Amino acid sequence: MSSEAGSTTIGGIDQGQQGSLVPQCNSVEDCLSQMTLDEKIGQMTQASHLALETESDVTAFALGSLLAGGGGAPTTGNTPTDWADMVDGYQEAALRSRLGIPILFGVDAVHGHSNVFGTTIFPHNIGLGATRDPELVERIGEVTAAEVYATGIRWNFAPCLCVARDERWGRTYESFGETPELASMMTAYIDGMQGDSLSARNSVLATAKHWVGDGGTTRGVDQGDTEVTEAELSEVHIAPFTEAIRRNVGSVMPSYSSWNGQKLHGDEYLLTEVLRDDLGFAGFVISDWAAIDQLPGDYASDVRTSINAGIDMVMVPDEYELFIETLRAEVNAGNVSVERIDEAVTRILQAKFDLGLFDQPFSDRSGLDDIGSASHREVARQAVQQSLVLLKNDDVLPISPDLNEIVVAGLSADNIGVQSGGWTISWQGGSGATTVGTSILEGIQKAVDDGVTVTYDRRGNGALTGDVGIVVVGEQPYAEGRGDSLDISLRASELSTIERVCSAMPCVVVLVSGRPMIVSDIIENVDAFVAAWLPGSEGAGIADVLFGEVDFTGTLPMTWPRSVEQLPINVGDRDYDPLYPYGFGLTMFDDSND
Ligand code: GLC
Repeated sequence: MSSEAGSTTIGGIDQGQQGSLVPQCNSVEDCLSQMTLDEKIGQMTQASHLALETESDVTAFALGSLLAGGGGAPTTGNTPTDWADMVDGYQEAALRSRLGIPILFGVDAVHGHSNVFGTTIFPHNIGLGATRDPELVERIGEVTAAEVYATGIRWNFAPCLCVARDERWGRTYESFGETPELASMMTAYIDGMQGDSLSARNSVLATAKHWVGDGGTTRGVDQGDTEVTEAELSEVHIAPFTEAIRRNVGSVMPSYSSWNGQKLHGDEYLLTEVLRDDLGFAGFVISDWAAIDQLPGDYASDVRTSINAGIDMVMVPDEYELFIETLRAEVNAGNVSVERIDEAVTRILQAKFDLGLFDQPFSDRSGLDDIGSASHREVARQAVQQSLVLLKNDDVLPISPDLNEIVVAGLSADNIGVQSGGWTISWQGGSGATTVGTSILEGIQKAVDDGVTVTYDRRGNGALTGDVGIVVVGEQPYAEGRGDSLDISLRASELSTIERVCSAMPCVVVLVSGRPMIVSDIIENVDAFVAAWLPGSEGAGIADVLFGEVDFTGTLPMTWPRSVEQLPINVGDRDYDPLYPYGFGLTMFDDSND
């Protein structure tokens, strides 16, 4: 580092006048004309904020973006104010760079601003697919954007437009369902997230991900190989992106997976010829977390291949200095053209100008008090109500709220973390009171009339003297590949709980899971069965429906298989014989025996 009066040179970039905190360029062309190669490469670099050696690296390398990965909370704490303070701190560091180009901070607010404590946690996408309600999903995009915006963040790595074709995939719940029609319908989320103008208050840049075919890998292996014809890739997996592009989605994130053996992050045909030349995508492409490292060849080859294929910004996210040095060397060696660099930087800068970051780089915290507000939670509770799918009902539902005793059992009955699933406070999610919300049990307790006894018997091994039993079971939280499973069945302990409770009284089983599970062996022995997916923080929405405040309206976004051996099984298949078909769902006034 060397310094003269009033200016310093750090990391090879002259920092100009210290403390100006005002961008030194006022248009894409103006910025580009002044930028050095290192400053251009800096704009193409996204680092995890937790990987920064020092905050001043944001200045020194003129980094274009930072992200908080799953659970990447500030080191100072996890309140919305902690996040806004963090983002503003990094923004100040960015504005201290020579040209003062604002940084763009990205986060995974995939079912609400779900890393942050106390925010509104919506049902995961699989439950939103069950609603078939794009207006509701657009509203969810709006509310999520408002909570993200209030923390100073202007970029969300959502929605996932993955079309999950095999329930064994650990990211099935991030999908709206098994058909391109559902994912296309729910691109309404983008309108809610980005608003009428990206520079407006509460507008946040959306990301269509993961381009393309992430939900179609063989056996549902996460980051696996999607072995399909180009016609199937186009009809099933590309179609939702066409709709997202029509809605002017601001960024696209490629998939870790491959298409017929070719990694998406290095596939120039799909990243440039199809995505840009055929579909007309005009935003910028952000790579996934360290995804370019998976390309064949050494790191220099990874960088060269991915940038030349069409990736504009690289989510490095840890070894950002190595990335910068490597890309600089590739440009200087003539392996990556300056034209390609300028093309990428132009797209990134355009997004920042569109967002108004050059005019207002710091957080607008006027919406902080709306985070987790009653009105926001009401939207989430409505989404929970509409997401529930009634698969069986032998005259048990609706439950009368004035019975003598209701037994509530099951490991998922009183657990905010479990009902929220992955991508909640931490990357993998977690069990327990991980954030603010209402558990399913608490919702039931609030719904019953005075004098009604609600007995919480977690394992169902108590007296079991109730008039009706509600057994809430399902999956423990997971994310991405850790959720890949060849055996999507209930645990033996949960099957025992169901057996004990449902032998002792009329019972309804509520399944809290990220996907259909194998229930063929129990469905005959329970009186009612409800698919609740991953409802998020507003568990009371389930009681609203069980007690008949509102009727069931949800329908299956995924085919419900009889057995794992049937997988993959999707609507339209020949010899289609599932336990419950795609689109199935009863109301309380349908008779299961119809
Ligand atoms: C993850 C996911 C991607 C997410 C990114 C940043 O690995 O694949 O969906 O946006 O990393 O957290």
